[in-house]
Amino acid sequence: MRDLPIVRRVADLRASTRDLRLRQKSIGLVPTMGALHDGHIALVHRAKAENDFVIATIFVNPTQFGPNEDLKAYPRDESGDVAKLAEAGCDLLFAPDVAEMYPAGFATSVTVSGLTDNLCGVSRPHHFGGVATIVTKLLLQAQASRAYFGEKDFQQLQVIRRLARDLDIPVAIVGVPTIREADGLALSSRNRYLATDDRAMAAALPRILRETAAELAAGHAAAPILDAAKRRLADAGITRLDYLELCGEENLQPLHAAIPGSRLFVAAHIGRTRLIDNWSVL
Ligand code: PAJ
Repeated sequence: MRDLPIVRRVADLRASTRDLRLRQKSIGLVPTMGALHDGHIALVHRAKAENDFVIATIFVNPTQFGPNEDLKAYPRDESGDVAKLAEAGCDLLFAPDVAEMYPAGFATSVTVSGLTDNLCGVSRPHHFGGVATIVTKLLLQAQASRAYFGEKDFQQLQVIRRLARDLDIPVAIVGVPTIREADGLALSSRNRYLATDDRAMAAALPRILRETAAELAAGHAAAPILDAAKRRLADAGITRLDYLELCGEENLQPLHAAIPGSRLFVAAHIGRTRLIDNWSVL
């Protein structure tokens, strides 16, 4: 297996891709916060299939964590990540430190309104400002042809599509379907926080999500179906929900009944872990 080159400065990232850009080679970018699992690696494989050169980034972005969230405890394993990226055929890793991304005096932020009003925007009010700012920087730093994001974080994907369009960043944003465990739980770096009992309980989340999406697809009023789903989640031990909502995929606003392009979204707390998931309805 080849060694994976690592750069930690924006100037070095630019220097290592300059020649590729001059030769009009396509570059695929896969931004991550590390602690990589097969969901992240699926993005790398897709980028590899569609581009001449693949850059992954690892940066645990402090500005997208709220004051009481898990920034300090967020799992970090750079050497493990490097091995997985090299194995997946990634060509370059950009792993800057906080001072490189947010130098002293940093004063600019990117806000995407509307799309961030609902769902995780309510329960994590500062989150998408942090995501939008760091992803804008990564897109401009890497100057990639395509950038890959998971549908598991569907609201994030839509926010990034919108900022790239609104700011005329010359990159194609590609959404990649969610990779799941055998029992349906969406892979997440945070799953490793789940205690054994909680992990078993967490399997109810994708199961009830999928079954509820199928019920909603008939187009009946959503409210009673969502209430019944909340009761079933509670019966399975999942009582603390930030939301369970049927929304339009384009504007992420709640719908009274399913229409083409609608999706079911959930955020639940299980033990000390907050899990999100979503399922296409129609
Ligand atoms: P992180 O949570 O590390 O996720 C990096 C990318 O992997 C995101 O695009 C996410 O949607 C995708 N991903 C995570 N789990 C997945 C799964 N089970 N299946 C498919 N894709 C999955 O999301 C972030 O980091 C950050 O917010 C970031 C975009 C890097 C900005 O800091």
